[in-house]
This record gives sequence, C-alpha cells and structure tokens, in this order.
Amino acid sequence: MRCPPDIPPDIPPDIPPCCLHRDRGRAWEAVPMTAPTDAPPGTPRRDELLARAREATGFMPDDEGEALYDAAVRAGRAGPGATFVEIGAWCGKSTVYLGAAAEATGAVLFSLDHHHGSEENQAGWPHHDPSLVDPHTGRIDTLPHWRRTIVGAGLEASVVGVVGDSPTVASRWSTPLDFCFIDGGHGEEPAWADFRGWTPHVRVGGWLAIHDVFPDPADGGRPPYELWCAALASEQFVEDGACGSLRILRRVTGPGAPEEGDASG
Ligand SMILES: C[S@@+](CC[C@H](N)C(=O)[O-])C[C@H]1O[C@@H](n2cnc3c(N)ncnc32)[C@H](O)[C@@H]1O
Repeated sequence: MRCPPDIPPDIPPDIPPCCLHRDRGRAWEAVPMTAPTDAPPGTPRRDELLARAREATGFMPDDEGEALYDAAVRAGRAGPGATFVEIGAWCGKSTVYLGAAAEATGAVLFSLDHHHGSEENQAGWPHHDPSLVDPHTGRIDTLPHWRRTIVGAGLEASVVGVVGDSPTVASRWSTPLDFCFIDGGHGEEPAWADFRGWTPHVRVGGWLAIHDVFPDPADGGRPPYELWCAALASEQFVEDGACGSLRILRRVTGPGAPEEGDASG
C-alpha cells in the first residue's frame, strides 16, 4: 500500500501529510481489519432496528452497518447524554444503525444532510436514482424518504434531522461530539470540508467513523482514505476498528482537556 500522493496542500496545519506517518516507520499494512468484538447482546428492539436498517435504501453493507452500530453503542455508553452526528444520511440507512445505538444508550443523533444528493448521485452519474427526483423542483430530494425511514423505525425521540449544508452547520456547531460519522460528499472538496469542519468537534475520548475508506484505488475514490490517513498522521486519533470500508477512530489528544472518566470508554 502506498501513501496517497495528492493530499491537498491546504489541509489543516496540525494534520501533516500521511507520508510523514509512514516516515515515522509505521506500516499501513499493519491495520487490523477486524470488526469491534464487544458487540452488545441482542434484544428484540435491537434486532428489529437492525433489520429495518438492512431493509432501508442506502449505501451501507450489512456488516459495516452493524460495526457502525457497535461503535456508536460504545460511544453512547462512555458517558450520559452522548451526542452523535452523522454527515450524509441519504434515505436514512446509516441513520437507523446510529439511531438504534442512540436509543439504546440515551444518546441523541443529529443526522445532517441537505438531501439533494452528492455529485455522484446527480443525473448522468452511476449512483443516480430518478425515483428520488422531486418533480416540482427537478432536484433530488431524499428528505421525505429519510423521514419515512425514521418514523417507520420509531426513532424520532433519538434522532434529530438537520437539513442543510455540512460546512455551514459545522461552522456554527458548538457541542462536543461523542461520535461523528463522516459519509457525505466523497469528492475531494466536500470530503475535506467535512473533515476540517467536524473533526475539531470530536471530544478527546470520542469516536470518529469514516465510510468508504479504500486503501486500494482500484476499489474506490481517494478522499475518504486520505481523511483517514490524515487523522492517523495527526496523532490525535488512533484506530479503533474496521469493517469493510468502514474505519473507526478514537480521539486520544487534541484541542480541549480530557474530561474525568473519558479515558475509560
Ligand atoms: C453516500 S450518501 C450517504 C449514505 C448514507 N450514509 C447511507 O447509509 O445510505 C452521501 C450523502 O451526503 C449528502 N451530502 C453531500 N454533500 C453534502 C453537504 N455539503 N451538506 C450536506 N449533505 C451533503 C448527500 O445529499 C448524500 O445524501
């Protein structure tokens, strides 16, 4: 595996290029490709919600969704009243996985999307679904589908929809995050904007999850992989599990002092 050659030059100053990480002698090949092993025991409600998530329209394979759920449960259990954010909800598939973890642990999930689809969802691109185009506006509108998914799952008490542009919301956000899931636009500009906008909000001891991380360029686009490299290279985050293209990280240092009890997780 090689370091990405094209980390944008304007990455945050505290995030050195991942090649520096390699130069410190740590091999990317050593990344353990295992799902978290401390999965909570099954309950009827958990099983119902995971089944609903599997049935929902979206881009999250079943095993990755369950790994996402497990990681978010760990975050929810780390302290009372946890705050989760997901960037990129589409029709609510990952939202149900994360919402199930929020409900199980007393957390609240803020699910952010402008609901007009990413570049790769627009007409003429491979991931375009014409059935999601609003005939009145001529634009993709996944919000009614997302709402139907969340209401159908009975998750309205644990999930708050935030409709808007990710960098705009991030720039006004002030609540420390216990869990942040980045799965928004996968192009270079939107992916780095999400990374810059949201990772500073992850509290020390909190979790960062990134979807569609493909170390081999033959498997998928570069930006999510580059974000993951940059998070590790910053030494503010360490790996905390992986499943397929899902990567889980945990903040070990960074802005702000750790709060009492944070380290135990
Ligand atoms: C890959 S899809 C998310 C898939 C979803 N997590 C799932 O499980 O199916 C990416 C989503 O990011 C949203 N998105 C892209 N750029 C955005 C932005 N700047 N602000 C808010 N949402 C954005 C798109 O509307 C799209 O719904």
